[in-house]
Amino acid sequence: MTQQSIGKIVYYESTPSFGQVTSYLNPGEDVRPGELLKIQNEEDKWLIGRVLEATEINPYEEPEHTNLRHLMGLQSQSMSEGLPRKFRVAFLDILEEAEVDGQNVNLHEPHSLAKVGSPIFRVDTEMFTDVLNLMPPDQEKDGLSIGYAAGNQAAKVILDPEKILPRHTLIVGGTGTGKSYCRGVLMEEIRKLNLPQINIDIHAEYNKATEELGGIVLVPGQSLTVPLSSLTEPEILGLIPKLTELQEDIFKAAYTDLRRRGIQFDLQELLTAIDEAGERSGGAGRTMHLITRRVETLRSVRIIGDGINWKDTLSKYLIVNIDCRKLGYVELQAIAGAIARDIIRLRDVDSPQIPPLILSIDEAHMFIPNTADASSSYVIRETIRMGRHKGIGLILMTQNPNDIDRSSIKLTNTRLIFSIEQDQLESLKGVFADAPKDIINKLPKFEVGTCLLTGSRDSIRHSTIVKIRKRKTTHGGVTPKMLETKR
Ligand SMILES: Nc1ncnc2c1ncn2[C@@H]1O[C@H](COP(=O)(O)OP(=O)(O)O)[C@@H](O)[C@H]1O
Ligand SMILES: [Mg+2]
Repeated sequence: MTQQSIGKIVYYESTPSFGQVTSYLNPGEDVRPGELLKIQNEEDKWLIGRVLEATEINPYEEPEHTNLRHLMGLQSQSMSEGLPRKFRVAFLDILEEAEVDGQNVNLHEPHSLAKVGSPIFRVDTEMFTDVLNLMPPDQEKDGLSIGYAAGNQAAKVILDPEKILPRHTLIVGGTGTGKSYCRGVLMEEIRKLNLPQINIDIHAEYNKATEELGGIVLVPGQSLTVPLSSLTEPEILGLIPKLTELQEDIFKAAYTDLRRRGIQFDLQELLTAIDEAGERSGGAGRTMHLITRRVETLRSVRIIGDGINWKDTLSKYLIVNIDCRKLGYVELQAIAGAIARDIIRLRDVDSPQIPPLILSIDEAHMFIPNTADASSSYVIRETIRMGRHKGIGLILMTQNPNDIDRSSIKLTNTRLIFSIEQDQLESLKGVFADAPKDIINKLPKFEVGTCLLTGSRDSIRHSTIVKIRKRKTTHGGVTPKMLETKR
């Protein structure tokens, strides 16, 4: 069946240009923001455009006409079709040029100027997949099937895991816009590929889904502890009552000593090292007594213990969800820092002890703030920086892009940007890839579950609007109702 054209390229204002065209739309045809359309420029040469904006030109409803009819009590006919001066036009940016050679379609950067009068068509799902560099529907079982092009359920968005996961993913948007739900979809898809994932779950939103997918939920302080020696100096200092400057110096000397010896130390060994450092620096009896008392409080810190054997755990479970809802800020930092350090060490390039994996962090602005005051910040940044080479893919989620370290979010390659307030858009500069201003400006009004998907030319070639698919597992992020509906 030959496809019907939906309109044609017109000469309008300064278009067509190399970058933009204007299309007249046949009566009754409508387009959506971000929709892909193709322009037949020559017999076997096409230009692929993306809808930026559209407008109805309708001089029958210029205010003075509308006013006049209103005053005279006349009915307007301007809503009817087929009026000679009423029509719709769509504005498109040109993304690709496609040359058709028999069955093959070669895509390359556009360098032809669209011809005025060329017919314009909707793209089929095959062209949609090719233009965005997605996986074709017949390979869905090997890809990350996250949803479909907004407004077109037939155009499935299936991401290539090899291109996406190692290069980190950012999920950003205001509260209640669909970030956690989307992470849940990714959790199902990553599970389908048998790739292990560790999830720092601050609100315990994924416990149910984890169980449904055969994973394990660990609770810090109960089923998950970290060894004292896997914590850094600021992490340990954060867990004990404040020390004086002198006490802190002694503590630091002891800590450096233990690190230099390169041993796994426990609390007793730390206390011995503190005694030795105290002796060396001539710390008075009372100083030493106080510092010992303070450091001994580590005994009651519930997250400190024997640690976890990641090799065993990851050989048994493909999802490890860490239910952090009962942790305070400092403990949260210590847990996240220790886990990140452990997996970096275990993914040693020469002899990795654990398989490649995904580490996902909710409320990422708490761990990598744009100020340097989170103790886990350094190691999480390192994980982002080295992850790609070590087979550790990060998924970072945040509703506060203003508060997150800019250089870290720039190191993410794939971004799923949900509805976000205008004032947060500024800090997302640099993550929009080739998304045009017209579409970025629509972000504050995106529906729940709809996002702007951006990447790089070799991952997601062009930014596109995606409706995230329905979950198969239970979404645990439902906000409790404050008012009972029952009286
Ligand atoms: N893709 C989606 N399809 C259907 N419902 C969704 C979708 N995304 C979000 N929702 C609904 O919106 C609610 C809030 O989404 P959630 O992901 O928890 O928001 P947040 O961005 O705060 O993490 C969910 O409880 C769910 O009901
Ligand atoms: Mg959430």
